[in-house]
Amino acid sequence: MITVNEHFLKLKAGYLFPEIGRRVGAFAKANPDAPLIKLGIGDVTEPLPPAVCGAMLKAVEEMSRPATFRGYGPEQGYEFLRQAIADCDYKSRGVAVRPDEIFISDGAKCDTGNIQEIFGLDNIIAVTDPVYPVYVDTNVMAGRTGAGDSSGRYGNIVYMPCTAENNFVPDLPSRPVDLIYLCYPNNPTGAVATQEQLKKWVDYAKKNKAILLFDSAYEAFIQDDSIPHSIYEIEGARDVAIEFRSFSKTAGFTGVRCAFTVVPDGLSAYTRDGQPVSLKSLWNRRHCTKFNGVSYVTQRGAEAVYSPEGREQIRQIIALYMSNAAAMRKALGDLGYAVYGGTDAPYVWLKTPDGVGSWEFFDLLLQKAHVVGTPGAGFGAAGEGYFRLSAFNDPEKVKQAMERIAAI
Ligand code: MLT
Repeated sequence: MITVNEHFLKLKAGYLFPEIGRRVGAFAKANPDAPLIKLGIGDVTEPLPPAVCGAMLKAVEEMSRPATFRGYGPEQGYEFLRQAIADCDYKSRGVAVRPDEIFISDGAKCDTGNIQEIFGLDNIIAVTDPVYPVYVDTNVMAGRTGAGDSSGRYGNIVYMPCTAENNFVPDLPSRPVDLIYLCYPNNPTGAVATQEQLKKWVDYAKKNKAILLFDSAYEAFIQDDSIPHSIYEIEGARDVAIEFRSFSKTAGFTGVRCAFTVVPDGLSAYTRDGQPVSLKSLWNRRHCTKFNGVSYVTQRGAEAVYSPEGREQIRQIIALYMSNAAAMRKALGDLGYAVYGGTDAPYVWLKTPDGVGSWEFFDLLLQKAHVVGTPGAGFGAAGEGYFRLSAFNDPEKVKQAMERIAAI
């Protein structure tokens, strides 16, 4: 008899965004004339920058000619893109990351979900609460957790609550943990972590022989010059951290798919008898076995993100989204909501009115304002009573959404 991986049966709900899509779809079917404004899933709305499109068109041309056609590329990504990343994302900030430590992939969602495969099943993982659901769900699927409770928390995971009181940056865990997921600028709260806060985590990981999995998919949205863009800006982080980045939100690649993961040389985890094993070599082995690389055309588009024109075009697009976030913060603040985030991240995190739960607020906004957001509870138990609005939309639509919320 064929059996299933029963760990999947522990998952408490459908994946958050399809679940929201299902509810919005049902509402739209019942109310076909309701003009919905979507500030839910963080999906970009501005088109690809012209510099990216130009580079991709040129790459398509190359692919159309026998002399310049390319088949399989290197699984880890083309040297031209890895070098551009090393120079422009890292060297420019005084951080030493070599091209051969960079693995190009089709998304930070996949990478942050897949990375747990190279770690032992008996590791204790720690996540912030609220949290990007991929980190938790993939560990549930792998069998690294116990059963879930009614709030959606799973046994054997250390949850680190992030609240307004700790500025949505968690305190160190009170019991030893091995694998720590951190995301800054944070999805969903929009909070950022300072040098000092991140240093505490690097020191913790060093002392406890733990690994930090640092998701910095939203670093391009940082406006405050004192905030680190990379975990490797923190002294000692190369010895304890893996970093994930993405072109999705930075450069409008949600539908194109390109991202990368940095696994430094010298970063190790251990066999049961204490022998160090290179995580870069394990990740490389996994990557080559399960992945055949991102397309040449896409990688040429990603490379153009670092050209002078590309950078300027991206700066303008990010400024547009951040002006949306500022408008949302202002409008919601004027309405009396406690608002967080939205200054260095494309997400605004707000406290729902007293006595109104996250999903209840989701329904209220959908029914009365025809505005779609994301319930904080969907990101974890500590997200209950909060709500996330994404700044990815047209400024006029954001303005309308705020007017409709004001009129509820
Ligand atoms: C989100 O809305 O949290 C993100 O768009 C999801 C993702 O990047 O996978």
